[in-house]
This record gives sequence, C-alpha cells and structure tokens, in this order.
Amino acid sequence: MYIRLSILVVLLVIFGNVDSKHKHHQRENEPEFIKNLTNNQRSSFFGIVKNPGISFQQKEDKLVKWAESNNLTEKYAEFSKNMILHKEEVSKNISAVIDRLAAAKVEVDKVNADLSLTKIQRNEKIDELKKTYPHEIPTIFYIGGLFENPKKNETKDGGSGGKGRKQKH
Ligand SMILES: *[C@@H]1O[C@H](CO)[C@@H](O)[C@H](O)[C@H]1NC(C)=O
Ligand SMILES: *[C@@H]1O[C@H](CO)[C@@H](O)[C@H](O)[C@H]1NC(C)=O
Ligand SMILES: *[C@@H]1O[C@H](CO)[C@@H](O)[C@H](O)[C@H]1NC(C)=O
Ligand SMILES: *[C@@H]1O[C@H](CO)[C@@H](O)[C@H](O)[C@H]1NC(C)=O
Repeated sequence: MYIRLSILVVLLVIFGNVDSKHKHHQRENEPEFIKNLTNNQRSSFFGIVKNPGISFQQKEDKLVKWAESNNLTEKYAEFSKNMILHKEEVSKNISAVIDRLAAAKVEVDKVNADLSLTKIQRNEKIDELKKTYPHEIPTIFYIGGLFENPKKNETKDGGSGGKGRKQKH
C-alpha cells in the first residue's frame, strides 16, 4: 500500500474525529492531493471537511461539487477512493487486533502470574510477547489504564489519541 499512515490524520479530520488544532505541524505529511491545493482551495476544502453540522453524505456531496468547481474532479475521486480504502484497511486491522486480544491476554496473565520473575524479567517477557502481539499488548495495557486511571476516562476527544496509554507492566 502506497498510502502512508500519516494520511490517517486527514482521514480522521474528514471522518470528523479530530480537532483542527493539530493541523499546522502536519503539513509535510499530507497526501499529495492536499499539498497541491492553493491556499484558497485548502481553506474552502477544509471548511467543508471540518463542518461538524452537516451529514457525512452532505459533506461528500459538497466535496464533489467543490472538486468540480476547482477542476479537481478526477484527483478528488482518486483521493477519496484512497481514503475509503485506507479506512477499510484500518477497520480490518482493528478487527484482527480484537480477534487476537483474548489470546494475548492469556499470555500477559501467565507472565504476570509468574512470581519467580523479577520486574526486569517480567518486562522482558512482555517485550517478547509484543513481537507476537505488537498491537494487542499495548491495547491490553491501554484498557488496563482505563480502570487503573479512571480520570483519563474523561477525555474530551474520545480518547483516540495516544496520550493516555502509559504502560504499566
Ligand atoms: C500534484 O501536483 C503535481 C505537480 O503539478 C502533479 O504532477 C500531481 O499529479 C499532483 N498530484 C495530485 C494527487 O494532485
Ligand atoms: C481543467 O481541467 C482540464 C482537463 O484536465 C484542463 O484542460 C483545463 O485547462 C483545466 N481548466 C482550468 C481552469 O484549470
Ligand atoms: C494493516 O495491517 C497490515 C498487516 O499488518 C499492515 O501491513 C498495514 O500497514 C496496516 N494498515 C494500516 C493502515 O495501518
Ligand atoms: C468513565 O466515565 C463515565 C462517565 O464519566 C463513568 O460512568 C464510568 O464509570 C467511567 N468508567 C471507568 C472505567 O472508570
């Protein structure tokens, strides 16, 4: 896949999950389509994308019209298609992580139950498990954090950022 992970930022903006405040220092990671826009096009584009008060269908209709009036129909269609593919890939990946979570939890529990280990050894075992379960192990610790640090539960942005995922082995 030639779509970079950084596209996620724009994707999340488009799908309404992310605030505009992170925008400016992400310019260099932007997809080519966005980078290529003039300042005027950029501001009208994001004016539509970030409008929280219209439905996603209305948003898409407006973006199609916007693309037409900017002579960018083909480029926008390609960009939009890539976004959808990316979103589908992310969704599949999330499902795959969920499917493996229970198995990963069993392994984490085994490590934690082994009282013969030192803290250092336990951390090493957990790191070892991360090779098999690279997303599942951090997810388990993230979930643990929801209960260990309930205050982090009152996140304003839906908790999708990585900030609250301090790991405790
Ligand atoms: C971006 O602009 C370059 C140079 O004009 C062009 O070759 C390229 O096709 C454009 N890419 C997109 C995705 O708009
Ligand atoms: C619109 O796009 C067509 C086909 O790509 C191009 O020939 C034309 O010059 C463009 N017009 C403007 C105003 O950019
Ligand atoms: C989804 O998972 C595959 C396989 O692990 C990986 O190659 C791909 O980069 C992931 N996609 C995204 C958008 O992270
Ligand atoms: C998270 O917050 C909600 C409401 O603020 C509360 O009802 C819920 O019990 C909290 N969950 C955890 C795991 O602390």
